[in-house]
Amino acid sequence: MAACRTPGRKSQRVISRDHRVASPSYGRVHSFVYKRGKGCWLWDMDGRKYLDFAAGIAVMNVGHSNPEVVSAVKKQLSLGLHAGFPDFYAETSVRFIEKLFSLLPGFGKAFLTNSGTESVEAALKLAKWSSGKKWLIAFDHCFHGRTMGSLSMTNSKPVQQKGFGPFLPVKHAEFPYPYRSKLDDESLTERCIQSVVKRVKEVKGDVAAVFVEPIQGEGGYVVPPAGFHKELRKLCTEEGILLCGDEIQAGCFRTGTFLALQGFGVKPDLVCLAKAIGGGLPIGAMVAKKSIMRWPEGSHSNTFGGNLLACAAGTAALDFMKKKRLGENVKNVGKHILTRLEELKERYEIIGDVRGRGLMIGIEIVKDKKSKRFGIEERKKIICSAEKAGLLMLPAGKSVVRMCPPLVLTKEQADKGLEIFEKAVKSV
Ligand SMILES: Cc1ncc(COP(=O)(O)O)c(C=O)c1O
Repeated sequence: MAACRTPGRKSQRVISRDHRVASPSYGRVHSFVYKRGKGCWLWDMDGRKYLDFAAGIAVMNVGHSNPEVVSAVKKQLSLGLHAGFPDFYAETSVRFIEKLFSLLPGFGKAFLTNSGTESVEAALKLAKWSSGKKWLIAFDHCFHGRTMGSLSMTNSKPVQQKGFGPFLPVKHAEFPYPYRSKLDDESLTERCIQSVVKRVKEVKGDVAAVFVEPIQGEGGYVVPPAGFHKELRKLCTEEGILLCGDEIQAGCFRTGTFLALQGFGVKPDLVCLAKAIGGGLPIGAMVAKKSIMRWPEGSHSNTFGGNLLACAAGTAALDFMKKKRLGENVKNVGKHILTRLEELKERYEIIGDVRGRGLMIGIEIVKDKKSKRFGIEERKKIICSAEKAGLLMLPAGKSVVRMCPPLVLTKEQADKGLEIFEKAVKSV
């Protein structure tokens, strides 16, 4: 994709070098080149300052260069980097899991990974192993990662799957997309649940797990009706199917509660986490109830899971989120942003929908409110224009602008970002 704006001289040099050596599969919208970050602010190679509403793809929940995370990493650096946790015991890694469970009551076992997709791979393997069943159910427009197991479910964009088959046996059911449905919440929920029922019947009940994002992330920050997840939970329990919550993007207080599914009043059987739980270092976890995670020694492992630096950073990040009650800030600032965006929606014809929970907010850009045709070009222009004015945001879905800032965002910073956002919308 063409860059948003003309980068500064130093930034341009890095971009040219990048284009020579980095995989062309990366999809860069921006020409921002990272130099340093602090809290909700970023600086590029040429000294330009940006307000960050992207948080390194929903990772930097505790803010960039969080002093507590940095200090924990420095302390661990002096003790060593890697213990080989899957083969040797390490207190730093155990402490991280214990800290995670202090935020996740009712889950008793964790498998540590290095990324979101690896957490999903672990979950689908555990689901298959523990159920002895073959099929997986996921949802239209879902995103669960890009390795072969998770990719078998991912279908938020055709390019992600095209040319990579064959895939694992997966059935896709309809995910409720209230803005693009003519049905009321109740009927839409019913239709989507029936779509899952249909898929289960098609494979004669041979379903190991249903994988669901509490709020679809890459698919367009799509928030299902309030009762959808409860109905899905009920169905899975009745059918003896494991419910796996992919909380990789929505979890970690992004929506106000530690798990986004908690906010929907639902407890999944398995949970996939990554992104924000490492405070910026690569770490993920797949957690399950003790009664489910009973796979035998040697059945699943890795090399870097439980890496000491990542666990030290993760423990500090989780501690910080708990201590600073980031969930409360998320609810307050998120509400403030949503209220202001609703006002903008009334004023601008190209803002079709404003939705989200906490600081997981999507703005669907359309050609006009009546036709609801996707405003693909308009969305790109808004993101580019905002970048030029010093606000970084990411796209999601076909024409959604997503706001997923660090969770330490203040109301003043939110207002500053919204001011730039409004100007960008106006310019389009
Ligand atoms: C909901 C969800 N699941 C899985 C993944 C994959 O995570 P990773 O990119 O760390 O493999 C992502 C990444 O965006 C995600 O949003």
